[in-house]
Amino acid sequence: MHVHEIIIASKRTKFVYLWTMMKITDFLSSPLKGVFEGFTDWHCHILPGVDDGFKTLEDSLAVLARYEEAGVTNVFFTPHVMVDMPNETDNLRRRFDELQAAYSGGLNLFLASENMLDDLFLKRLEAKDFLPLPDKRLLVETSYFNPPVDLFGTLRKIEKAGYSPVLAHPERYQYMSERKYVALLDNEIEFQLNIASLTGYYGREAQGRAQWLLSEEGYSYCGTDLHRSSQFEHLLESKVRRSCLKELQETVLDVSNILE
Ligand SMILES: [Fe+2]
Repeated sequence: MHVHEIIIASKRTKFVYLWTMMKITDFLSSPLKGVFEGFTDWHCHILPGVDDGFKTLEDSLAVLARYEEAGVTNVFFTPHVMVDMPNETDNLRRRFDELQAAYSGGLNLFLASENMLDDLFLKRLEAKDFLPLPDKRLLVETSYFNPPVDLFGTLRKIEKAGYSPVLAHPERYQYMSERKYVALLDNEIEFQLNIASLTGYYGREAQGRAQWLLSEEGYSYCGTDLHRSSQFEHLLESKVRRSCLKELQETVLDVSNILE
């Protein structure tokens, strides 16, 4: 065999190998679409005109119609509350009432909030001025890059004030170590998964962390963290690892889709 024939043969082998791997990966992944049947979205930014999420009432109503078509049952609106977006509780309630008045579909809509652990949070905590999830669960987030000052101390203060912290999208916190995830779970801090993390939407690292936390049964709630309607279309078209889908169904959705 001549050298150029060896090169062609090795290229062909490489191609066959890649093609086979793609097929195996395809075989092991399943469409995400089905999870929205009976789904409770515990985290989204669909309430219009209050944060970096949806801008207009029309867009919000349009995505809620898409939610209905996909089989979603319950939606918690969780607008940001942070120094950069200091949403007042009364104003959020007013905006929610406006949306509910304009909405005639069949979804159950609820108002809560996503609270950044910053200086504004400490002021709101003093006044107990929050929009919590059911049973005084409080959805909280931190910076993606930097740990907040005294995370565990703040979480203890939240509990002392009578709330149960739910950490939003822990898989997205780049500063967080495996040890810290375990310590948080040991301290009975509940985790909320952004479902798009499983599709790789936020990158490989967040995807890997989400897959690991899912396999460790770390998540209690699941949400879209939807900021624009194209993100929901992405979810409807995406596939995820078959094993992830199974774990999602068995350890998160069976529980988190049921409202107490
Ligand atoms: Fe969010």
